[in-house]
Amino acid sequence: MKVLILGSGGREHALAWSVRRSPRVTELICAPGNGGMASIARCVPVDLKSLEAMVHLVETHQPGLTIVGPELPLALGIVDALQQRGFRVFGPTREAAMLETSKGFAKRFLQRHQISTARYAVCSSPAEVEQALDMFHPPMVVKADGLASGKGVIMCQSRRTALEAAQGLFAGTLLGEQERQVVIEEFLEGEEISFLCLTDSKHVVPLVPAQDHKRIGEGDTGPNTGGMGVYTTDTLLDPHMSEWILHHIAEPAVRGMADEETPYVGVLYIGLMMTARGPQVLEFNARFGDPETQAILVRLESDLVEAMQACIDGRLAEIELRWTQGASACVIASSSGYPGRYETGFPITGLDAARRIPGVEVFHSGTAAPNGQVITSGGRVLAVTAAADSLQQALGRAYQAIGEIHFEGMYFRRDIGHRALKRAR
Ligand code: AMP
Ligand code: GLY
Repeated sequence: MKVLILGSGGREHALAWSVRRSPRVTELICAPGNGGMASIARCVPVDLKSLEAMVHLVETHQPGLTIVGPELPLALGIVDALQQRGFRVFGPTREAAMLETSKGFAKRFLQRHQISTARYAVCSSPAEVEQALDMFHPPMVVKADGLASGKGVIMCQSRRTALEAAQGLFAGTLLGEQERQVVIEEFLEGEEISFLCLTDSKHVVPLVPAQDHKRIGEGDTGPNTGGMGVYTTDTLLDPHMSEWILHHIAEPAVRGMADEETPYVGVLYIGLMMTARGPQVLEFNARFGDPETQAILVRLESDLVEAMQACIDGRLAEIELRWTQGASACVIASSSGYPGRYETGFPITGLDAARRIPGVEVFHSGTAAPNGQVITSGGRVLAVTAAADSLQQALGRAYQAIGEIHFEGMYFRRDIGHRALKRAR
């Protein structure tokens, strides 16, 4: 079978790597792909902001399965458009993807289905925000309703800064686009967990849970990023807690979407805060996480393509996923300046030496390979990932591998996994 993957980041490289292991797959195309995917798939250009261009690409190549990596094509309705033309595609429809594309929708949905989440108010004007703020104590969180690549969440220490943040979102001075809705939320304290599940809209199969590190700086300091590193271990969540989250959060969410006649098929990423009151939903994403996917898929023993096909065909109940025991870790190497301004085009060395370390996979997040020389082309550049029997060993391998790699201005956090290591002490 011919498989097409839409996207160009580390998540898509990991998906491509996993898809390549499936005996069902005879041909793999990545669009647009990157310097890493080019070594395991045919990369063809496409504009991921253009629904028309993506549909045209699929009509040209006629894949037996299309896998959608990032959120933007989902928000544009790529799944609906391909389904209407008779193509098989893994991902939620535009309406189902609203769990990610509208925070106001997600919060109201959670409330309708009595799924635990932070107290909130959805506001349509600064005047409404002013009124709503009477109900919140600082610190509070102000969020843009729409997709904002992690930049739409502002922690506020006072009523005044919350009002200013909301005004900035409505006026378009904070994100560049004017928001029509803004969400105010109570601030939650605890550890964050990324709980991802596959679903066919009836049955839910969790992937191994992961912990991301969103801030740029060590000790979780500095601005938010797309994610600077992530790990999974067999002990990240107690088995009872995993069951609780499955039965009280993931399954009710999927059932709720089906009951509202917007059935959700694909991967559902549930961002959780583990608070003293129990797990609370911070956000939904309608796609795989990046870099969660890299750390999760290096532990997947089962055939990812088979599981995705089962989601599309509504027979996920037949599937049980097998995982290697132990742990995995992924450390992001980024360009100097990220998540702000950064330069690209620097040659990367040491990739072969890094890959020779046992258990290590170097996924490319933002690279290009013109004339065969791999160069930097993005803010997050590489996702250096390792699986092992223990977290210490997985981290040791990932850091040893990253030590082999060099490019000008390379930055990485040296404390990935710090919470788990502290717990283990
Ligand atoms: P979101 O895009 O809603 O997941 O928010 C991005 C990040 O902001 C989350 O991963 C959390 O680290 C943080 N965050 C969001 N909402 C809250 C909240 N209510 N309390 C504390 N931190 C939050
Ligand atoms: N790593 C966070 C995300 O993919 O949204």
